[in-house]
Amino acid sequence: MSQPQEGLRGNPLRDVRDRRLPRVPDPCALVVFGVTGDLARKKLIPAVYDLGNRGLLPPGFALLGFARRDWGHGEFESLAREAAEKGSRTGFRDDVWQRIADSIKFVPGSFDDDAAFDNLSQTLIDLEATHGIRGNAAFYLSIPPAMFPTVLKQMQRTGMADNAERGGWRRVVVEKPFGYDLKSSRELNELVDNVFTPQDVFRIDHYLGKETVQNLLALRFANTLYEPLWNGNYVDSVQITMAEDVGIGSRAAFYDKAGAARDVLQNHVLQLVALTAMEEPVSFDAESIRTEKTKVLGAISVPKDLEHYAIRGQYDQGWLGGVRVPSYLDEKDVPAGSTTETYAAVRLGVETRRWAGVPFYLRTGKRLPRRVTEIAVIFKKAPHLPFSQTDTEELGHNQLVVRVQPDEGITMRFGSKVPGSSMEVRDVSMDFLYGESFTESSPEAYERLLLDVLLGDATLFPRNEEVEHSWRVIDPLEEFWAGRKPHLYRSGEWGPAAAAEMLARDGRVWRRP
Ligand code: BG6
Repeated sequence: MSQPQEGLRGNPLRDVRDRRLPRVPDPCALVVFGVTGDLARKKLIPAVYDLGNRGLLPPGFALLGFARRDWGHGEFESLAREAAEKGSRTGFRDDVWQRIADSIKFVPGSFDDDAAFDNLSQTLIDLEATHGIRGNAAFYLSIPPAMFPTVLKQMQRTGMADNAERGGWRRVVVEKPFGYDLKSSRELNELVDNVFTPQDVFRIDHYLGKETVQNLLALRFANTLYEPLWNGNYVDSVQITMAEDVGIGSRAAFYDKAGAARDVLQNHVLQLVALTAMEEPVSFDAESIRTEKTKVLGAISVPKDLEHYAIRGQYDQGWLGGVRVPSYLDEKDVPAGSTTETYAAVRLGVETRRWAGVPFYLRTGKRLPRRVTEIAVIFKKAPHLPFSQTDTEELGHNQLVVRVQPDEGITMRFGSKVPGSSMEVRDVSMDFLYGESFTESSPEAYERLLLDVLLGDATLFPRNEEVEHSWRVIDPLEEFWAGRKPHLYRSGEWGPAAAAEMLARDGRVWRRP
C-alpha cells in the first residue's frame, strides 16, 4: 500500500479519498414534505434537477412529494418540471428531465392523516421493487416548525424512520430555524432524536453550502500567509455583514414571529463567525470541523451593555433602485404596531487566547441599499509610521475581505505609494474574483447540501451543540429587546443611526461594502 507523502502529513486537507472525483449516492428516495412550498419550488426541485443533469443522482432514485393537494403524479410532475425549468442552474434539458420525471411520485394528505402516512410508508416499500432504492430514504422537512412534531410522530408510528431491519439508511433534513430559543430548540432536538439517530439528522444552514463560505477554510488552513496574523495581536476587529435589499415579501406569517436575529443572526451569521474564528481542525472530517466550530460558538460572549451594543431596527418606507417601497408595518399581513426587527447589529467577543479583546461586529438587515454578505478582518495599524502625518492621512487599516456574495471573491486593502515625487500613501485594493480565476461555476448551496445528505456527509451541517450555543447568544438579546421598540431606518439606507453610533463609541466605523 502506498504511504502518504511525507510532506502531506499533518495537513488537515489530506484525505485518503480524492475529493475531486464526483461521488454518486447510493440508490435512494428523497421524500419532500411541503413540496408545494416556496423552498421546494425555488431551491429543492431545481437542485434535484441540477444534480441529475450533472450525473450525480443514482440510477435507482425516486423523488416523492407529500402535500395537502388533491393531486396525482401528473400534477406534481408538471409543478416540478416548471420549478426545474425556472430555477435550474445548469440549463434545462428535456432528456434529463424525462429521467427524473419517471422517478416522481406524489402522495396526497395532511400531516395528521394516518392513512396518508401509511400510504407513504407503503410507497417507499414498493419503490424498493420498482426503483431499486434498497430501502434508503432521506426525508426533507420543508414545513413550518410547528408541524415538525406531528410529522415526526407519524414517521415513528409507521416505522418509516427506522430501517435497520431492512438494512438501508434513513435520514432527516431539518430546515432552520431550529427552534425559537434555547428551550424550544432542546425540545425539538429531543423529539428528532427520539425518532432518528443523531448521525442521521441533518440540520440545514444553506450558508455552509456556499462556495465562498467553504473557501474560508481553504483560505485559512491551506495557506501559510494568514495564520500568523489571524489573532488578536494583529487583528483589530472583525465585521460581518449580511445585507439584503429585499423586504419580507409574502413571508409575514413566519417573519413577524422570528425577526432578523432569529432568522439569520442565530444561524447564518454565527456560522460565519465560527468559521472565521475556529482553530485548525486536526482533519477535514465532519467531526473534527464541527468540534472546532462548537468550541468557538461556546466561547462567544455577549456584551453587558446591551443598550449600546445590541441594536435593532425596523425598515420604514423609502426608495430602493428608484422604486418607492413600503414600511415594514405596511407590508402584507404584518400586524399593526409590530415591533419585530428587520435589522440587527451586535458586538460579540470570542473568549479564547486567539481572539481575546477583538470585537466581532455583526449586522444584518432587510431593505438595505444592496445585497451583500462579507466578512472583513480589519488589522491593527502599523505601530510606527516612518512618514510624516500628512503622507499617511488617507491610509486606513489593512483589511482582508471575504466577499461571500455577490461578486464572490476576496479583497485585500493595504497602503500604497501614490505615484509622484512626494511620499504619499493611500489605500488600494487587490481583488481575487472567482469568475476570473475559475471557469467552473459554483454549485448552488442547496445542490451541494442535498447531495451531501444523500451521501451521508455531515461536514457542512451544524450539529446540535452548535445550535444550542447559538441560542445562548441570541436569547439574552431577545430578552433585552422584548417590549422595547426597534429604531426605525429608512429603506435604502444602511440601518439605524444607533448602529453607526455603536461603532463610533468604540472609535470605529462600519465598512461600506
Ligand atoms: C434565509 C432567510 O435563511 O436566508 C431569509 O430566512 C433570507 O430571510 C435568506 O432572505 C438569504 O439567503 P441568501 O442565500 O439569498 O443570502
